[in-house]
Amino acid sequence: MSYLRLENITKKFGDFIANDNINLNIETGTTHAILGENGAGKSTLMNIISGLYQPDSGQIFIDDIPVKITSPAIGIQLGIGMIHQHFMLVPELTVTENIILGTGNNLHLNLDNKQAEIAQLSQSYNLEIDPSAKVKNLPVGMQQRVEILKVLYRQAKLLILDEPTAVLTPPEVRSLINILRQLAAKGHTIIFISHKLAEVMNLCDRITVLRRGKVVANTTKESATPQQLADLMISRTVNLQVNKKSTSPGAVVLSVQNLQVADDRGVIAVKNISFELHQGEILGVAGVDGNGQRELADAICGLRKVKQGKIYPSPNPSPLFVKTKSLRVGYIPEDRQKNGLVMEFDISQNLILKLFKNLPFSRYGLLRRKAINHHAISTITEFDIRANGVNILTKQLSGGNQQKIILARELAGEPELIVAMQPTRGLDVGATEAVQQRLLTEKQRGTAIVYISTELEEIMTMCDRIAVIYQGEFVGIFDASMATSEEIGLLMSGAKIS
Ligand SMILES: Nc1ncnc2c1ncn2[C@@H]1O[C@H](COP(=O)(O)OP(=O)(O)OP(=O)(O)O)[C@@H](O)[C@H]1O
Ligand SMILES: [Mg+2]
Repeated sequence: MSYLRLENITKKFGDFIANDNINLNIETGTTHAILGENGAGKSTLMNIISGLYQPDSGQIFIDDIPVKITSPAIGIQLGIGMIHQHFMLVPELTVTENIILGTGNNLHLNLDNKQAEIAQLSQSYNLEIDPSAKVKNLPVGMQQRVEILKVLYRQAKLLILDEPTAVLTPPEVRSLINILRQLAAKGHTIIFISHKLAEVMNLCDRITVLRRGKVVANTTKESATPQQLADLMISRTVNLQVNKKSTSPGAVVLSVQNLQVADDRGVIAVKNISFELHQGEILGVAGVDGNGQRELADAICGLRKVKQGKIYPSPNPSPLFVKTKSLRVGYIPEDRQKNGLVMEFDISQNLILKLFKNLPFSRYGLLRRKAINHHAISTITEFDIRANGVNILTKQLSGGNQQKIILARELAGEPELIVAMQPTRGLDVGATEAVQQRLLTEKQRGTAIVYISTELEEIMTMCDRIAVIYQGEFVGIFDASMATSEEIGLLMSGAKIS
């Protein structure tokens, strides 16, 4: 039986057709994946289903009854719960307060009763959430469970998860998948969006593939392989295997000695890190999120003060050390929206953020629009950025296309050192391949690369050496060809000190 049915749904933004005549059947009690490359129209479609956007034409049915979902509140009344990628919880409030927020008549509220009710709900779904905990003290994976509990409390029958695993560690992903399986077993219907084909094959019964706003396939996990799905999503053949050519590393580009760096609150986040990085070498930094990676990357790029220890060459040469050679550094930061881009600027402006003072982009202090646009047009083609023109605001782009803009900007000007933090987060399989190929080409050219990722598999395929970071320290450095993922995984979890 179909829970949700879409008939000929079309959504345009100006002349651009984001969803083109979509027909979709979501069966009750199934887990249904929506796949598609960056900008294919997945989030737009989910926003229509949850009531955030209105379609320009077409009809939605729930339990075979035609409905109009004119707002998220109506969506919730109809049993549709959306779990957003950027969580919408209030950090200062407790789990219970967050969950009951906005549920109407709380005038004669008995918080203890509510707490007990939520504890019971959490228990019945094996979510293991403490209802009295403050949200800000919970790890990301737990916060996501609170979001799930929140829609269950509102009696959602259909749960929509738009790239829920992008921010999770591997163990958190495994437990999320278990939770979603249980929910489906209890009769809930799940829509799951992910760029990671292994997750989709692991969890989902049915798979729909979108390409450029259209449905190009409806299939099941039994009748499709990851390679076939990748080919359906992307109009060219994607090579899911990275071919890492070994290069013989050259001279030392970066030397870090006994580095100590504090986080934003002044707590020491990087404790005592030393390493050398050579030309043409990729050093992977593997670790669970929040073990000092962010502070290490910032310090190497000169964006955070070194508390103790040394970085050679000094990334931020002061006038006192005029002889210190500074490197041309490309930085791909973790949070593209906060640190990588100015969301209110258009594509062409974001592409020249580092270069706008120079020719050909400005002259006599005036920006030269023609040169800037020209640069943007050629970059959009080179990096396959999907956008309806160079003057589209960056905030209107899909996540993957935003990441491509940062990459294009940071790789311009032949950097000698690249610090890449989660460079493929949120990217589709084609864009992931493109980014990884790009970085491998840079490596061949002699660029030294620090590749920071929470995804072990990605580190194993891309890097020559792998450092494992745990609580601000490198607890092991391995030659990638010698290391096993079990060993590194154990070190990442702190279960073993080498
Ligand atoms: N509010 C908007 N205004 C203009 N264009 C938009 C808007 N929202 C989305 N688009 C465009 O619609 C297309 C589809 O975007 P959408 O966010 O649905 O993609 P997606 O499949 O979710 O991609 P990703 O995997 O990168 O998240 C993109 O090209 C995007 O630029
Ligand atoms: Mg999206």
